[in-house]
Amino acid sequence: MSHADAIETRINQLKAGSIPRHIGIIMDGNGRWATLRGLARLKGHRAGVEAVDRVLETVMALGVDYLTVYAFSTENWKRPTAEVRGLMALLVEYLDAKLDKLMANGVCLKAIGDKAGLPEKVQASLKRVEEKTKANTGLYFNIALNYGGRQEIVRAARALAEEVQAGSRSLEEITEESLADKLYTAGQPDPDFIIRSSGEFRISNFMLWQMAYAELWLTDTLWPDFSADDLLDAIADYQKRNRRFGGIDAKGKV
Ligand code: FPP
Repeated sequence: MSHADAIETRINQLKAGSIPRHIGIIMDGNGRWATLRGLARLKGHRAGVEAVDRVLETVMALGVDYLTVYAFSTENWKRPTAEVRGLMALLVEYLDAKLDKLMANGVCLKAIGDKAGLPEKVQASLKRVEEKTKANTGLYFNIALNYGGRQEIVRAARALAEEVQAGSRSLEEITEESLADKLYTAGQPDPDFIIRSSGEFRISNFMLWQMAYAELWLTDTLWPDFSADDLLDAIADYQKRNRRFGGIDAKGKV
């Protein structure tokens, strides 16, 4: 059996079980991957983009509805200017090169994060792709860019406070639902499953509100090496979990 056939067989087997509706990914290890090969860090990011493509194809085949990838955090500006510039250029290149493919696959792309703080060129490319793909419903693909979970919650709290101050919302109307409605992910289901690559055991300010009940999966694999098989291993593990959301399961186990 060819590797592609083996992947397809695995996908079909997994589809018989529960598939996470929303997967979040903290893509880590691009820099180390490059350094290990004596390459510039940016080469690692470029290889990381290819891993994003592999994951996109696999989640679509699995029937996942939402995918959120952490591409640039509010803290990543601390990196050397050349790396930040390179990452931004890579994003523009990706958006421009992939628009047709995203359309062909019915992908709706959305940037989550403080877009106004991104370079003009990135903003323009994002606007074009978001506008063009906004009616697609095959896969909702969020790219977290200039994103910070705390910043997102503060922004939501301010938006609610403004409405209370203006008299259009009462204090009692500040609820989990109304706050979630002010997040970048408004209207989307919370991630069921969060994956982090490269052996780190951290959340790094990613989807803090949304991940309240997410299952976590950590792997030593560096992001550029992350394969369709790695994703399928992760899903197979997810299917063994017993999600109780703070309640008890049928056997009465807390
Ligand atoms: C973390 O690796 C990775 C990033 C900060 C950037 C992730 C960006 C991409 C994969 C490319 C853009 C994405 C899209 C959606 C086109 P690191 O540099 O922190 O690795 P290290 O910990 O080994 O140094």
